[in-house]
Amino acid sequence: MSHADSAPADATSHGSAPADATSHGSAPADATSHAPAPHAAGVPRPETLAVHPPHVEITGSRPLGVPLHQGHVFAFDSADALATAFTSGDAFLYSRLGNPTVRTLEDAVARLEGGATALSFASGMGAVNAVLLGLVSSGDHVIAQSCVYGGTYAVLTDLAARWGVDVTYVSGTDPDEVRAALRPTTRLLYLETIANPTTRVSDLPVLAAVAAEAGVPVAVDNTFASPLLCRPLDHGADIVVHSATKYLAGHADVLGGLAVFKDPELYGRVRHHAVEQGASTDPFAAWLTLRGMQTLSLRMERQCASAADLAARLAAHPAVEAVRHPALASHPDREIAARLLPRGGGGVVSVDLAGGREAGRVFVEAVRLASLSVSLGDVKTLVMHPASTSHHQLDATALAAAGIGPGTVRISVGIEHVEDLWEDLEQALRKAA
Ligand SMILES: Cc1ncc(COP(=O)(O)O)c(C=O)c1O
Repeated sequence: MSHADSAPADATSHGSAPADATSHGSAPADATSHAPAPHAAGVPRPETLAVHPPHVEITGSRPLGVPLHQGHVFAFDSADALATAFTSGDAFLYSRLGNPTVRTLEDAVARLEGGATALSFASGMGAVNAVLLGLVSSGDHVIAQSCVYGGTYAVLTDLAARWGVDVTYVSGTDPDEVRAALRPTTRLLYLETIANPTTRVSDLPVLAAVAAEAGVPVAVDNTFASPLLCRPLDHGADIVVHSATKYLAGHADVLGGLAVFKDPELYGRVRHHAVEQGASTDPFAAWLTLRGMQTLSLRMERQCASAADLAARLAAHPAVEAVRHPALASHPDREIAARLLPRGGGGVVSVDLAGGREAGRVFVEAVRLASLSVSLGDVKTLVMHPASTSHHQLDATALAAAGIGPGTVRISVGIEHVEDLWEDLEQALRKAA
């Protein structure tokens, strides 16, 4: 029987309500019929039901996608169980200390990098800060590559100014330079696999061997290479740092960072600091990163191939003074790249335009398919001018030491068709010439 069939004729007629029910002046004959029904003992009331939805147990099947545990706090059945969870370091009780979706990301990236364990952060800078602040104290010494990411350089400069941490910058390719820089107070050698934006490639195994002789741990920012192209832990590093915002996540919709550890002792030291620092990952950000990572190998393959192709075409263009990409025979670290990056030189190409800073400005504004944007590693092609953006913290001397010229333009090659990209870059080069 339909609802219309069962309803009394007068109740469904909006125009003609029963006279007694709508008349405010005259109470219904039977007032007690509107009183709430007596509450059954033990049955939660609506206010309570609204905050305690039922738990659906899944049996006989399992979700194929990673479940999103967005909740920040977990409940326990006994006071003892909660007290034990507090000290175990592994249990889930409060998401700043650990969350199942975030843990899935940490385990996934630790496995990809060949590490024992990993920590996830709200951004790449969260990971960089946690590693530096976790391992370096006032009066210590750090050896860092001169062309580190601008934000990392800013943290090192701040540590030097406020904590008296001495930093010696090295090229990243010369073992004697690292040997000469070592001191009894050296606590860390900090490198990038492929440097931003120069695409210089660090000689990880050679430099890590020098640091190991001195008992100094090595941290490597592997953002540009991703574990698909290089696994620094296999080459002697102790910690790998990522801005997951870039290639790992890949879709310009999430900020994230990770630090992967070879050794549980270093993990413990950094974690101890990190949980108090509070730069933990939101579970949804971890979930988005995990979703993006499923296509990492396909994206990386296409981006490396297109970047190498475009780098070769750019190198032959009259408006271009110099091009740097690890796959080019002219690259200063070609031999190192051949050893460490056999699967490809990454998706970033750095270009010095013949017309200097003004040509760079015209070029980044003239692209149509590519976007003028400071990030990298995205499925879309992005172009930017490092001297005025990612490396604005560096003065002229530091910029020159990092190999960044006034007209250097960085191109992060996406997954679009390479011919469409070339048409776009070529028309922008014509305007910049
Ligand atoms: C090499 C490298 N490391 C670290 C970072 C910092 O990452 P995030 O922006 O996710 O904090 C960046 C950002 O561009 C980067 O390029």
